[in-house]
Amino acid sequence: MPMTLSDAAYDVLTTASPIEKANLTREHVKNWRAGTIDLIGHVDLPDRPARPDKPELLHPSNMPKRGKAGSDKTKIALLHALAHIELNAIDLAWDIMARFAHYAWQNVTSDNEFTLPKPFFDDWCKVADDEAKHFLMLSGRLKDFNAAYGDLPAHDGLWESAERTAEDFAARLAIVPMVLEARGLDVTPGLIDQMKKQGDHNTAELFQIIHDDEITHVKAGTDWYDAWCKFYGKDIETTWQDMVQVYFNGKLKRPFNDHSRQKAGMLKHWYDPLAEL
Ligand SMILES: [Fe+2]
Ligand SMILES: [Fe+2]
Repeated sequence: MPMTLSDAAYDVLTTASPIEKANLTREHVKNWRAGTIDLIGHVDLPDRPARPDKPELLHPSNMPKRGKAGSDKTKIALLHALAHIELNAIDLAWDIMARFAHYAWQNVTSDNEFTLPKPFFDDWCKVADDEAKHFLMLSGRLKDFNAAYGDLPAHDGLWESAERTAEDFAARLAIVPMVLEARGLDVTPGLIDQMKKQGDHNTAELFQIIHDDEITHVKAGTDWYDAWCKFYGKDIETTWQDMVQVYFNGKLKRPFNDHSRQKAGMLKHWYDPLAEL
C-alpha cells in the first residue's frame, strides 16, 4: 500500500522526537509536492501527539517568569517558548489534514456535500512545512546560545484548542489560524523591534521570516473558512464571531496588527468587536 497523506500525518503525530518530527514533516511534504504521495486516505488519529520527555509541560499559570529584558537567559526563554509553539503548530497542521480527510474530494461520494479540493491539502502541507522550518530555525538559534528545546518547561495550553474543535472543521479554522495564529501576527513585530534594539539582527531576521510565513497561514485559514461559509450560505463575519465566543475562552487581546491581518484577509470589523477594551 502506498503511503497516503493521512499516513504521513499519523507518522508525524506519533513521532516524539521534535527534530525527527520536523524532518519527517519536510520529507512528507516534499513527497506530496512531487506527487509520490497523492492519496488522502483515512487514519485513526491519536488524541494527543507524541511528545518527548522534556520539556516538562506545566499549566500556563505555573510557568516561571521570563526575567530581565536583554539578558541571554530571557532570550533563551523567548526562543524556547516560540519553538514550543512551532512544534505544536506542526502537529496542528497535520491533524487538520487527517482529522477532516473525510471532506477530501477523493473521499466525498455525493455532489451536495462540503468538499475540500486538492488546494486545501496543498495549503496545509505548506503550513506544516513552514512550521517545521520555523521549529528548526529556532532550535538552531537556541544552539547559538548553548541551549536546546527541552531545557526549560513549556506550557500545555496549546493542544486544548485542538481538542475543543476536534469535531468541527469550521471551528478548528475559526480558532487555530484565525485566532491563535492571527495573534502571532500581532505579537511578532514588537519582538522584532526588541531584537533590533538589542543589536540581535539574526534573531530579528528569523522572527521576520516567521511573521511573513504566518500571514499565509492565517490567509489559508480565512480562505477555507470563507469557502465553508459560502457552501452553507452563512455570513462569514457573524459565523466567525459566534464560533470565537463558543470555542475560545476569553476575549481577543489588543493591540491588533491590522496591516498584517488585512493581508491575511481578516477584516477589522470582524475582530475588533471581540476585543477587550
Ligand atoms: Fe510557525
Ligand atoms: Fe503558522
